[in-house]
Amino acid sequence: MKRKDAAAGDPQLDEGGRLRHLLTVEGLSKPLLTKILDRAQEFAAAPAKKHDLLHGKTVVNLFFEASTRTRTTFELAAKRLSADVVNLDVAGSSTSKGETLLDTLATLQAMQVDMFVIRHSASGAAHFFAQHSAPGVSVLNAGDGRHAHPTQALLDVYTIRDSLARICKKDFGALKVAIVGDILHSRVARSDIHALRALGTRDIRVIGPRTLIPAHVETLGAKPFYRLEEGLDGADVVILLRLQRERMSGYYIPSPGEFYRSFGLTRARLKLLGPKAIVMHPGPINRGVEIEGDVAYGERSLILQQVTHGIAVRMAVMAMLAENRSRHG
Ligand code: CP
Repeated sequence: MKRKDAAAGDPQLDEGGRLRHLLTVEGLSKPLLTKILDRAQEFAAAPAKKHDLLHGKTVVNLFFEASTRTRTTFELAAKRLSADVVNLDVAGSSTSKGETLLDTLATLQAMQVDMFVIRHSASGAAHFFAQHSAPGVSVLNAGDGRHAHPTQALLDVYTIRDSLARICKKDFGALKVAIVGDILHSRVARSDIHALRALGTRDIRVIGPRTLIPAHVETLGAKPFYRLEEGLDGADVVILLRLQRERMSGYYIPSPGEFYRSFGLTRARLKLLGPKAIVMHPGPINRGVEIEGDVAYGERSLILQQVTHGIAVRMAVMAMLAENRSRHG
């Protein structure tokens, strides 16, 4: 299939297969993912350096859901690229007076915005924004419902690639990756699985109680495990997820304490992992629910490195979007 045909109908790629929005990692090719990671590596090599790649551009952060890491690192990334950045206070905005998402988009676009970073509780909100945005405007999905969190997946695979030597694995194809917890409500799990599969990882396990593992998860390319001891066996990378209670209706587990007893990663359980295994978590962490405090900031943990990598990865995506847009005048 020609590149032009492959990109046809994909709302986030232009006719040359280049990014014009970042809505999901699903469907992104290994070469494109590698290009983003390589670009992020360049930015990470000189973290304090300021670039003028977004000089004269305006980036608006629109977070309809709470965020610490994603919102702050998007803001830092945009500022390091010299963009003008606006963080819309959604709670204090006219959405509270009944303004629709579409009218908010039209209003902000009238202020000559170049990029929107949007987080929303509704799956598909970022696609909707992209579909209705003006030509030349890019939309970056900062998490939509339980659907996708593409920059989280990119920073996760960046962190894993950065640690391959430490794990003593030569590439993504040699890795055993375990994702533990509330897979059902997790946009991070879906995006991580897509990114890992595209980069060549075949041994991806999802671990949790049956109520929190989606039916037919094998179709995504992950094998379900309902006992932590079996799923963690020999894993090189373990990615923990919190219980996303804001997306749950009803009861999926007897109690957080019961979940911790069965699925929490404690110091004692670290020995189930491979000898060089790393521990990751997109955050925010809930100590004593999915992870023991000592493990969260222990020697195996890369949780804070993930946060740091988020800046370089988001710089890379925004720089590439701006460059791709400038090609079209
Ligand atoms: N990982 C993540 O999305 O964290 P925040 O909710 O703090 O942005």
